[in-house]
Formats: sequence, structure tokens, C-alpha cells
Amino acid sequence: MKNKSIFFCTECGNESPKWSGRCSACGAWNSIVEQAEKNVKTGKKSFSPISVKPSPITEIDTADEIRFSTGMGELDRVLGGGAVKGSLVLVGGAPGIGKSTLMLQICKQLGSFAKVLYVSGEESTHQLKMRAKRLAVDSENLFVLSETCLGNILECTNQESPDILIIDSIQTLYNEDLDSPAGGVGQVKDCTMALMQLAKGSGITVFVIGHVNKEGSIAGPKVLEHMVDCVLYFEGDQHMTYRILRAAKNRFGATNEIGVFEMMDHGLKEVENPSEMLLSGRPEDAPGTCVTCVMEGARPILAEVQALIVPSGSTNPRRTSNGFDFHRAAMLMAVLEKRGGLKLSQCDAYLNIIGGLTLDEPAADLAAIVAIASSYLDKPVPPHMTAIGEVGLSGELRSISHLEQRLSEVQRLGFTQCMIPANRAKELKPLPNLELLPVQNVAQALQILVRGK
Ligand code: TYD
Ligand code: MG
Repeated sequence: MKNKSIFFCTECGNESPKWSGRCSACGAWNSIVEQAEKNVKTGKKSFSPISVKPSPITEIDTADEIRFSTGMGELDRVLGGGAVKGSLVLVGGAPGIGKSTLMLQICKQLGSFAKVLYVSGEESTHQLKMRAKRLAVDSENLFVLSETCLGNILECTNQESPDILIIDSIQTLYNEDLDSPAGGVGQVKDCTMALMQLAKGSGITVFVIGHVNKEGSIAGPKVLEHMVDCVLYFEGDQHMTYRILRAAKNRFGATNEIGVFEMMDHGLKEVENPSEMLLSGRPEDAPGTCVTCVMEGARPILAEVQALIVPSGSTNPRRTSNGFDFHRAAMLMAVLEKRGGLKLSQCDAYLNIIGGLTLDEPAADLAAIVAIASSYLDKPVPPHMTAIGEVGLSGELRSISHLEQRLSEVQRLGFTQCMIPANRAKELKPLPNLELLPVQNVAQALQILVRGK
């Protein structure tokens, strides 16, 4: 046995035997931290012929995993249709975004059929009670504990045998057998491992909250992603009221679903109609904005693309993009310059997606093109017009998936016109009150914009 140090990257969790200024795995600078690893075994382990035995796959019980609802449809959706019994779910997000609120709030429903133990290392039981009161969570099945020592928590869990365990947060937990401070990479990994064993061994469903820290001084959920069953990230602007829950990993479902919530005085409210929320307050008759429809999982959501194009005073024009891939935006501007004749290389360009949404679908290309051209030409997009379609390098419009679904969402929200790739126009059934504007290429889209139809 000897004590030695290992080094972790706080961004990606990569382990290395020595320190360096830059992580060799993810390329992040200054993200490597040292972690003393106690009791590292050296030398060869002697294996004894014990009872580890593989099972024939045909004999393994194929009963579906047992799922239960958390009482919040949006959370259930992101989890892939409810939480799975015996799984470990990591809920990550910036401090103050609403992780504790979400977890305490679901205790209301969970407490109606299961015994829940909420362990907080951040708040006293009194504070928890105050918060629960505010959230109207008052279940006899909900037990709270203010504790940070892993051993005590496991002991308490053993005695109480809850069905659901919530840990708030993993960074406050510590295992006394390790020297390192709470919140360090070693502690966070070790405690998560212990909780994972608890979940798998006793079938307790564990929710673990983890803070994401931009500076990387505290080991964040990134270093735990590979260990747990599900990783959900709670995102959104602290100053805005809505929050988006996204799955980054899910062993029991798809990862492309999002859940949308709004932070109210009495906790989080589910937003069942995100399109409406994202479009509220949209300026009408202002140049530089266009609405499109993207698929978030199986759900079509309307999003607003905004562009601001101004003449540049510099030989090296400024380009920024927020919520839209930077390189894709640059490509679309080059296409507009070459195929649409707009002199964008002499302009500063700012692209923004409203509502903290990130559009990573090519279907949003046409709306970006229209928004950019609208700002450049100072010509507003008619308020009831939307645009859906992928743009190729020759300026041609390409087909996209789920067009019918997207169009019905467009129609549902009262839009009356939609530009679509021309090659799909024939096969579509006409929709009442929605005029389809088939577009073959970027030049045609610009014509429609200028015509204002
Ligand atoms: P919290 O759940 O404590 O965040 P986290 O656990 O992710 O750090 O949420 C904190 C923020 O939410 C805080 O700024 C206050 C706000 N909030 C409300 O607006 N309404 C509420 O009902 C609650 C409980 C919190
Ligand atoms: Mg909290």
C-alpha cells in the first residue's frame, strides 16, 4: 500500500498520472486538479476461485423495468416515461437554477405511494420544512435529514429503508475514509459509487443533485456521467423564469426529449405549451426575426430566430451566435452572399435564438437565412409567416423530417404561411388556414420576403 496522487480533469473527468496545464482528452485549460488517493493497492491481487458466475442470457428475467411517475409530466418525459425503480438519476445544473425545488416538489407525488428520504447537506431540516411549506408538499411519507457524512446517510437508509432517496447535493457529501475534502473529484466519485451500489443492491431509486460549476473548482456532474444511469441537466437563465430540463444520458430512454418549466412563487410549473411561451412577446413588424419549428424529441416546438446585421467598421467583421451553431451560421451567410447577392462580408452579424433554446437541427436553416436577409434588407417578415427547411451549399432547399408534424404545430399556433422545401410540397395534404410557400432555393425565399407575401 502506498499513498499516491492522481489527477482529474474537472471538465471531462479524464484521469491522468501527472498534472498538466491542458487536459489531453478534452483540451480544456487549467481544468486538472490533484486528488490524493488513499490506500491505493499496489502489486498483484491474488484471485481466489470464488462464486462469481455468469448467467446464460436466456435465463435472465426479461420483465420490463418498473417505472413510476414523478407527478410531473415534463420530468417523466425526459426520464423516458417515468423514473425506473432502482436507478440512479443525476440532476445537474447551475446553483440557484431550481434543482432542490424540483426534487422537493416531486416528493408530493412520490410520497403518495412510496417512502421518500430527502437528505440535504445544504439546508437544515427547518429550512427544508419552510421550503416544503411554500411548495405545498406535506406528505407523511416524506422524511428529511440534514447530513453530509456518507456513512451516516447509508446507515440511516439501512434503518429507514426508503423506496426513494434524494441527495442534495453530491458536492456536500464526504466519505470519512478518504482524506480529500468534500466536493473534490475523489469524494464525489466515491460517494456516487456508494449510492450506485445502494441503488442496484437494494432497488432504491436514487436522485442525486450535482452543481455545475463553470470555474471547475468543484467536481461537477461531468465527472460522474459515465457512472450513473441518467443525467439530466437543468438549464435556463436565472433571470428568466423558464427552465429547460434535458437528458444528457439515459440508460432507459431517448436523450432528445426536453421538459420545460416555469419558476413561479410557489415552485416550478410545467409548461405544456412551450411554443406559446417561447413566442410570447415577439415583436411584430420588426425586421430580423423569423419563426421556425424544430423537433425536440418527438415534440415539435416553435422557435424564434433573430438576426441583427449592421455595416461593419472593421476589416474583420464581428460574428456572434447564441443558441445556433456558429459554423453553420457562417456557412449560411456565405450561401446568402453567393446565392442571394447580399454583401454580408462587410457586415457585423449577430444571431440569437430566443428563450435559451439551442437549435442544432438543419431544419432551422431557412428561418436563419430569412432572419438574416430580413435584417440586412430592413424588411420585416410578415408576422404570420414561418420558414422550415435545410439549406445546402448551392443555396438549394433540402427536405427535412417530420414535416407534417411541424406544420400542424405551426398551424396550431395561428400562423397562416410557411415556407417549405419545394420538393415536399406535392405530397403534403393541404392544411386549413395554412398556406404553404414552396421554395426551391435561397433566391426564391428572398423574393417571397421582398414581396412580403
Ligand atoms: P433552488 O431550488 O434552491 O436552486 P438549486 O437547488 O438549483 O440551487 O432554487 C433557487 C431559486 O429559485 C431561488 O433563486 C429562488 C427561486 N424560487 C422561486 O422563485 N420560487 C420558489 O417557490 C422557490 C422554492 C424558489
Ligand atoms: Mg439547492
